[in-house]
Amino acid sequence: MGIVIEFKDVSYSYPLTKEPSIKNLNCKLEKGKFYGVIGKNGSGKTTLCTLIRGFAPSFYQGVLEGQVLIEGKPTVDHGPGELSLKIGYVFQNPFNQISGVKETVFEEVAFGLENFGVPVDEIERRVIEVMELTKISHIAEKNPFELSGGQQQRVALASIIVLKPDILVIDEPTSQLDPEGTESVFEIIDALKREKKTIILVEHKIDLIAEYADDVMVLDNGEMIRFGPKQAILSDMSLLEHGIQLPQMAILGNELVKQGVKLDYIPITEKQAKEVIGRTLRKESV
Ligand SMILES: Nc1ncnc2c1ncn2[C@@H]1O[C@H](COP(=O)(O)OP(=O)(O)O)[C@@H](O)[C@H]1O
Ligand SMILES: [Mg+2]
Repeated sequence: MGIVIEFKDVSYSYPLTKEPSIKNLNCKLEKGKFYGVIGKNGSGKTTLCTLIRGFAPSFYQGVLEGQVLIEGKPTVDHGPGELSLKIGYVFQNPFNQISGVKETVFEEVAFGLENFGVPVDEIERRVIEVMELTKISHIAEKNPFELSGGQQQRVALASIIVLKPDILVIDEPTSQLDPEGTESVFEIIDALKREKKTIILVEHKIDLIAEYADDVMVLDNGEMIRFGPKQAILSDMSLLEHGIQLPQMAILGNELVKQGVKLDYIPITEKQAKEVIGRTLRKESV
């Protein structure tokens, strides 16, 4: 698989700060993969997203060392419109995403396409399709500012998906959502993954990262302390000492192993727990 995003010796400091918010980052992200980014508050997750879309340093200024490459080209060398075509960015706070110039959800979702000069009949078709995917068709005529936090989050997501970017950077999209709404956002992201989009998702809900992501990146105080396939990382109990949450099933599995139960591997999802614990129980009963 091709590399779509690469961090080469990247350190970044916001203006007037002493310590970099991202320190010495080296990693490559592959096309079509779903990356979960985790870490405590203030660990640099949003800054990482901001670096990918080029807003650090173009908008925030500050000092960037090293290079952030998007499809092989440094973010600072991309033209301003170029990155926003490739990278869809969903803000941590959905309120920031709403344009403030449109009176209905339908128009809001269509807004970006209008800016890109897409023909009217195509806009209509794409907006209807995305509103169905994100389950907001029933609020099409509502004012974007009269929505609940959860509805705003879906509208924010829809207004980005409709642009069909190859890369999606999504910063805590479920903070305003109940468990059902959260699961449905993950289902939407899963559908985008099937379309071979590259997805970078910042999310605290670790059980859902365990279920849906491919690889996981762990940030701690601006440093990447783990990066790779989720199975090994999310079952690594030493991360608890860094204040990182781990899946409930990994903690349970680890506890069972400590008590002498032989498991073939530490599960990170409910499905895996049923499978691996079942396997052990069947062995013991013969
Ligand atoms: N606009 C900014 N100006 C100065 N410092 C910032 C700015 N945004 C974030 N920071 C600092 O950068 C660090 C990382 O923040 P952030 O990337 O928002 O972390 P996270 O998203 O993991 O909570 C924190 O110490 C935060 O205070
Ligand atoms: Mg953040």
